[in-house]
Amino acid sequence: MIKDTRDTAVRLTDEDFNFICQFVYQSTGIVLNDNKREMVYRRLTRIVRERKLKSFSAYCQLLRNHGEQEKDYFINAITTNLTSFFREQHHFDYLATEELPRLMKNRNVQANGKKRLRIWSSASSTGEEPYSIAITVLETMHKKLSAWDVKILATDIDSNVLAKGKTGVYEYKRIENINEDFKHKYFKRGFGENENNIKVNKGLSDLITFKQLNLLHDWPMKGPFDVIFCRNVIIYFDKPTQQELFTRYYDLLAPGGLLMLGHSENLGAYQQHFDNVGRTVFRKPL
Ligand SMILES: C[S@@+](CC[C@H](N)C(=O)[O-])C[C@H]1O[C@@H](n2cnc3c(N)ncnc32)[C@H](O)[C@@H]1O
Repeated sequence: MIKDTRDTAVRLTDEDFNFICQFVYQSTGIVLNDNKREMVYRRLTRIVRERKLKSFSAYCQLLRNHGEQEKDYFINAITTNLTSFFREQHHFDYLATEELPRLMKNRNVQANGKKRLRIWSSASSTGEEPYSIAITVLETMHKKLSAWDVKILATDIDSNVLAKGKTGVYEYKRIENINEDFKHKYFKRGFGENENNIKVNKGLSDLITFKQLNLLHDWPMKGPFDVIFCRNVIIYFDKPTQQELFTRYYDLLAPGGLLMLGHSENLGAYQQHFDNVGRTVFRKPL
């Protein structure tokens, strides 16, 4: 039984821990420090068991020798994917009451005869965030939707959470506290052995494309996006990485576009380039 991080048969030595921190930082931008040691230990213990290895050092060696093949699996194990439907409700309220009405009033028709709306959920985890965006869009624009070309891009570094998001299947308790009307309109309850599960309706999933994307790498999308959700992810990065990402988000936003951050996140020095128009809601000036 592995209990202690330093003094057991399977030890996480400082050397191994430092290697892991470096590997995670270089591959994901996530900064792990000593207060994450327990978390790293727990997650590595699971991997070492699954990989049928004898020690953390053996796993570090595997990462050194076969980093590319092992990386995906390792990153999936190390990321924190906490999320929920309508998490930080005020962002969805802002979309419904301010932003979508503003766009519906001002947006011009494109060459294809439709009005264009693009929203990016840039650390979408298991999909609750992009599905909440899709519900908000459908609720706010429903009668006018046929005049619009709406696309929601959902990306994350973690291939497991993306696969889960794509299925659109969740335990019923994940939607227990959302608006009753939304439950009936946008989710189907399973039956038999699936009675504790729900599946999102096709109307929602049709609006969303899930894709794997590491925020540190090149972004293949051209944009521009009207709204970018970057919530509860930059908190894991250091200041230089955050500032670099803010520049890239800024460049990909349409003039007047919105950047939504998580509750404990801020733009730091980059704030001067945006107008703060709501709680952790930032607008790129026109
Ligand atoms: C705590 S979840 C936030 C989910 C959602 N945005 C929310 O606020 O509910 C953070 C997500 O960021 C993802 N992530 C971490 N590092 C990343 C990176 N370098 N590129 C893309 N996604 C990353 C993780 O895989 C995880 O799913």
